[in-house]
Amino acid sequence: MSALRGGTPIPPFDAMAARFRELYGDDAQPCLFFAPGRVNLIGEHTDHNGGCVLPCAISMGIWAMAAPRPRETVRLWSSRSAGSPPVEAPLRGLEYQAERGWANYPLGVVRALEDRGRALPSGLDVLFHADLPEGVGLSSSAAIEVLTARAANDIFGLGLDGTEIAQAAQEAEVRFVGVRCGIMDQFAVSMGRKHHAILLDCATLAHEQAPLNLTREGIACQIVIADSGVSHSLSASGYNLRRRECEAALEDVRSVRPSVGALCELSEGDLADIGGEGAFGESVLFRRARHAVTENARTLKAAEALRDGDLRELGRLMRASHLSLRDDYEVTTPELDALAELAWDRPGVLGSRMVGGGFGGSTVSIVEDAAIDAFIREVGAGYARRAGREARFYVVGTEDGARRLDAHGH
Ligand code: GLA
Repeated sequence: MSALRGGTPIPPFDAMAARFRELYGDDAQPCLFFAPGRVNLIGEHTDHNGGCVLPCAISMGIWAMAAPRPRETVRLWSSRSAGSPPVEAPLRGLEYQAERGWANYPLGVVRALEDRGRALPSGLDVLFHADLPEGVGLSSSAAIEVLTARAANDIFGLGLDGTEIAQAAQEAEVRFVGVRCGIMDQFAVSMGRKHHAILLDCATLAHEQAPLNLTREGIACQIVIADSGVSHSLSASGYNLRRRECEAALEDVRSVRPSVGALCELSEGDLADIGGEGAFGESVLFRRARHAVTENARTLKAAEALRDGDLRELGRLMRASHLSLRDDYEVTTPELDALAELAWDRPGVLGSRMVGGGFGGSTVSIVEDAAIDAFIREVGAGYARRAGREARFYVVGTEDGARRLDAHGH
């Protein structure tokens, strides 16, 4: 088992610059950009149900070196596919092409900007370098999307603010890549702030930067990610199915209360008032709705607990969130359940739950500093016994959202 303690990472800028010149020529003066990943403390599958989320941007992410080019094509290269030449694609009228692989995410952003009337005025050369693992539920796709939008925006002066950048990035994922995600990931990556979590109302995009003080009774705690080793990269169909189920559940609600616009507008009391399970065509739809409703309430309570410095309550809510994702929303896996259960039983652990869309990926835990080494050792060993695989652990700090950096990476 292995652990990585995230500080603000320093990528190999000189090597990146040398590679950029090799790939794209000597004459360009590239600019440097960074976008963090995100971890969601609580509020899972509430964003696409018009509810609240509480994510933060984290100290692992993706860098881009980018320069305009006087041509009608975009060229993209990633150190993750170092053996391959840059992907080259036309500037206008782009469509998804499976063989372009990872490049579909940034290309989707080029297309989304065009659709918003902010087309890139000329070509763009980009080199990506990441220390954010893929497929573990830390939003590497949102990070590369927001990073591309931020780089294009700043280089060409497109005039988008951080919220619009998040929206363009989300459009890329929904319309181009075909995952009907909510706005949480792109918003957190674009608008995150170091030492804060964002309480975001996804229905209105009203948001508040909530100071993230993870000290309890004088004891400092950290955010620990445990990657189950089961990639969630094939989860798009499961995710889109959950969205359709929520839409069907909303239809059932609206047949009784036509004014309801989204599941998270309801309280648990409302669900009971409209007839509980009986109001839904299928019991599975009731459970999907109950998750959205109770998770939204937990998120608001968690924001309050954070404000009051009540980390024990935050932890309790995280555990309840996992159970609801397991039993009502059914997006956990046996591996995620094992990681969460192993964490709940340990001293020095305030809370633990699966994070992100589910169907694989990671858990997030809040762990007292002094308990982290034992946590990694013991949860890792227990997980290897129960799941027959190795978990990877990341101790992450919080970060500012996507931005341009100076030549030294600041
Ligand atoms: C994925 C999606 C988000 C959100 C989460 C679940 O990360 O991209 O929009 O729905 O799942 O909370």
